Amino acid sequence: MRIIKAKDYDDMSRKAANIMASVITLDPSCTLGLATGSTPIGLYKNLIAAYENGNLDFSKVHSINLDEYKGLSGDNDQSYRYFMNANLFDHVNIDKNKTYVPNGLEEDSDKACADYNEIIRSVGGIDIQLLGIGGNGHIGFNEPGEAFEKETHCVDLTESTIKANARFFESMYEVPKQAYTMGIKNIMAAKKILLVATGSAKADALYKSLYGPITPNVPASILQLHQDVTVVADEDALSLIKEKGLL
Ligand code: GLP
Repeated sequence: MRIIKAKDYDDMSRKAANIMASVITLDPSCTLGLATGSTPIGLYKNLIAAYENGNLDFSKVHSINLDEYKGLSGDNDQSYRYFMNANLFDHVNIDKNKTYVPNGLEEDSDKACADYNEIIRSVGGIDIQLLGIGGNGHIGFNEPGEAFEKETHCVDLTESTIKANARFFESMYEVPKQAYTMGIKNIMAAKKILLVATGSAKADALYKSLYGPITPNVPASILQLHQDVTVVADEDALSLIKEKGLL
């Protein structure tokens, strides 16, 4: 596992974008595993700038997103499809037909998840999976306690995640209670993992994930077993690790 220290959010975004850009440059028809949340927005801005400068071409890229709220359509401005269009896809030359997000409107969870696993297989797997991290160590929407061996599945969101994500909704009561998420098994099958973290609210989760016991109670801790993980985190997110003398 590589840990790249960044000064602040902008530095983290730039450094992480450079890593993702190098994957696209080396393999223009790669498959990117993408993430939502506030953390990767700066990274996406850097990718857009690289595209605008003529340094990146997304025309042959495929993308697979980690998760989607169950019940939200892509037109809903809180859906992750909407987020991806607004923060990346609408600004680069990616073919939207090659971008995938779980179908939040599919009511049959088994079908939605089986379809998504099939999509991941049909594009030949994920070359680089971008991950943010929840304050409780969740990745995608794999909440604490979920079995590591799951592929895409439907989850009940925890109270803490609903509260954390309520800032994007009118009120906490509007946050969907369920989501479709790629499972840890899908994430671990990606060739490379790029985890980004910013701010002191992530310090505890990052410390437990990178240096604590590997346990489903801290979903990101499984990443210790992946052979190619790069963490790009700013000083605040790394503060506890530093305090413990581990960095
Ligand atoms: C959501 C997403 C995760 C994301 C997490 C943290 O729960 N499903 O993929 O990592 O939020 O979000 P943020 O980056 O806004 O802290």
